[in-house]
Amino acid sequence: MAISCRVWRLLLALCTLGSVGMESVNAQFFNNFYTTKGCDSAEAIVTQAVTEAFNQDPSVAPALIRMLFHDCFVEGCDGSLLLDPTPQNPNVEKLALPNLSVRGYEVIDAAKMQLEKTCPRTVSCADIVALAARDAVLLTGGQHFDMPTGRLDGMVSTADNANNNLVSTRSSATELTRKFLEQGLGQDDMITLSGAHTVGKTTCGQITSRLYNFPGTTNGVDPTLDFDYALHLQQLCPQNGNPNDPVPLDPVSPNTFDNMYYTNGVTGRVLFPSDNVLFADHQTQFASNLNSQNGQFWQMKFANALVRMASNKVKLGVPNRNGEIRKNCRFTNAATGSSTNN
Ligand code: HEM
Repeated sequence: MAISCRVWRLLLALCTLGSVGMESVNAQFFNNFYTTKGCDSAEAIVTQAVTEAFNQDPSVAPALIRMLFHDCFVEGCDGSLLLDPTPQNPNVEKLALPNLSVRGYEVIDAAKMQLEKTCPRTVSCADIVALAARDAVLLTGGQHFDMPTGRLDGMVSTADNANNNLVSTRSSATELTRKFLEQGLGQDDMITLSGAHTVGKTTCGQITSRLYNFPGTTNGVDPTLDFDYALHLQQLCPQNGNPNDPVPLDPVSPNTFDNMYYTNGVTGRVLFPSDNVLFADHQTQFASNLNSQNGQFWQMKFANALVRMASNKVKLGVPNRNGEIRKNCRFTNAATGSSTNN
């Protein structure tokens, strides 16, 4: 059936509208955005703060990578995770259970303090978090990549939102995929981003249920865990030991951003059940195995997936009721009596 001239015109108009919409979004969110805002040194200042912190304590790098994930999954990447509790808003995101072990806030504060001296009220806290995670990947041996900027800082931060959107270590592959889909990310993004567990640490309390009294077993050990690795973990985390004792997520190269997570996963040496399912479930095991075989390929996919995650539901444009450039990353401008607009 021939499409009438009027329908063609309508389609053309819709396409034009769509591309105008995209352009106006992209016009506010691109690589080196701050050079167009008169703050050429914005990214260098963040890099310096992250590098100084890393030189003092290399464990801040994984913490900063995780911080971006936890910020982006709740209200989009808008620095909502950074907000401290106030009498008006006591139950903020950072107090939600999965966020209690998020670290590195002082690195974001240090970068912001320097940025406020150099380019006052120009660089958002949300962008600092995104740039800091990007820098942390490079500092631990991952690849360099561009991170678009132009995000505004959000005003909303609730522990409930964090509890609803962040992912549990007990999730199945289907559940993990669904949670990432809700954030506009695909299953392969989920598999790729989970490779961040190639750096950093957890605590004994998070894993003892896999090491002792595991239901349905005679030796008490989760049978999906490599047995020699389980014995090693039992030494690190004795039964009735300190639940806060640290355990590296990657037993082979805990401080290096490489694809060892996947090599470990293939042999049952990953710590969380949510890691293990990626190698056990037929939906995800092929892609996980592929990442174990090609580190370069995974590094490239990781950079792309992290940028995709960090571009999710971002607040853009001129400061408004939904987004601002905070003066202090720990408080909204209203809470510190500063104006929302620059
Ligand atoms: C897929 C679902 C995920 C679950 C269930 C999960 C869960 C966890 C848990 C429970 C910890 C240990 C926290 C602690 O004990 O202090 C952790 C650590 C970590 N996670 Fe994830 N995570 C997931 C995905 C991700 C993603 C997508 C990233 C980043 C792109 C990420 C980056 C990290 C890093 C770097 C650490 C180490 C943090 C540190 O050393 O402080 N995780 N994760």
